[in-house]
Amino acid sequence: MVESVLSAQEAIELEDKYGAHNYHPLPVVLCRGEGVFLYDVGGNRYYAFLSTYSAVNPGHCHPRIIQALTNQAKELTLTSRAFYNDKLGLAEKYVCETFGYQKALFMNSGAEANETAIKLARKWGYTKKGIAENQAVIVAAKHNFHGRTTTIISASTDPASTVGFGPFMPGFEIIEYDNLQALEKVVANPNVCGLWLEPIQGEAGIFVPHEGYLKSAERICRKHNVLLMMDEIQTGIARTGRMLASDHEDVRPDILILGKALSGGVLPISCVLADDEIMLVIGPGQHGSTFGGNPLAAAVCMEALQVVKDEKLAENAERLGKIFRERMGAMINKSPLIRLVRGKGLLNAIVINDAPESETAWNLCLSFARNGVLAKPTHGNIIRLAPPLVITEEQLHECCDRMEKSILV
Ligand SMILES: Cc1ncc(COP(=O)(O)O)c(C=O)c1O
Repeated sequence: MVESVLSAQEAIELEDKYGAHNYHPLPVVLCRGEGVFLYDVGGNRYYAFLSTYSAVNPGHCHPRIIQALTNQAKELTLTSRAFYNDKLGLAEKYVCETFGYQKALFMNSGAEANETAIKLARKWGYTKKGIAENQAVIVAAKHNFHGRTTTIISASTDPASTVGFGPFMPGFEIIEYDNLQALEKVVANPNVCGLWLEPIQGEAGIFVPHEGYLKSAERICRKHNVLLMMDEIQTGIARTGRMLASDHEDVRPDILILGKALSGGVLPISCVLADDEIMLVIGPGQHGSTFGGNPLAAAVCMEALQVVKDEKLAENAERLGKIFRERMGAMINKSPLIRLVRGKGLLNAIVINDAPESETAWNLCLSFARNGVLAKPTHGNIIRLAPPLVITEEQLHECCDRMEKSILV
């Protein structure tokens, strides 16, 4: 029997009793979402200020995306790639033209897309760059977050991601993020096939590198025949005020990794884009996924991206992001609680003036929730603030007022 309505207490107790304890959710039980709003089982309304880790860029349950989902769900949901389907090619063409690549490979989760990128870079390294078998090295950055699989965490520097999960996959070299000298040094190794970066480190606490870093990294990669693998899973699809965060510096990654907002938060859809020289190193039987490239995902993805374009969400994120940082920045002088405000577009963070292991950021998020705004700490004392990109200026000011109430108590 499926329970239809639970009290908040019942829902929390059920998850606690029967679910794995791999998350620490805020004690809010959600049952409905519409645009920038989320509703809990008690009927309370909140502003969504996490956007499901930047997956819900067009707002919750966008009617056009839900329509595309339900239309396609009535026709055909899953074929596997054992056969062609009448939507996948259209979606591949759509994403290739949108992002300017020759080929696309659809998967489901962000972690799978990163795994795909790793396999592409390695195989390209062996077949095109001439690296000796099993010697390929991928360079990743300290404090990265690319997902949770055992290969991906092999490149992680976060003990919460790694401790107790070894042994780890070899073939990764870690350098400081935002440090070009370290990059120059490491790519001198001819076995390096790829540089794997987030254009802004999201989970690390919305760490924005200095202007010019990405462009210089691209130049260094070109010089050393190293693929630039850009993980835009959190930053992509208009979040930072451009379709891609790489666009701010006119950078074109060799391998572009997308997820999250590719479906507007409606389905797990991820995608890797590259040109033929890279993508065609993988042949039939060498990589895939039962659900990857299914027609339901294809239909949803095209509509979700079209909504982002039609509703000019990148422009909205760019304009409102500036207003948001100004408003939150003004609180630095008003409250000893706020140390720093940083970000790009509508991907921002406030750094709390307390020790990283303190409860202050968590308690502030609880207070935000009581004032009708849902946000969550990323790491320690940093709170990520990332509303759906359909938020209006008036709504944004209202959210700032609400958060101010919590900050200035
Ligand atoms: C930059 C980045 N890469 C990869 C991932 C992993 O995506 P998923 O949770 O869909 O596997 C995330 C998730 O937060 C992310 O922010």
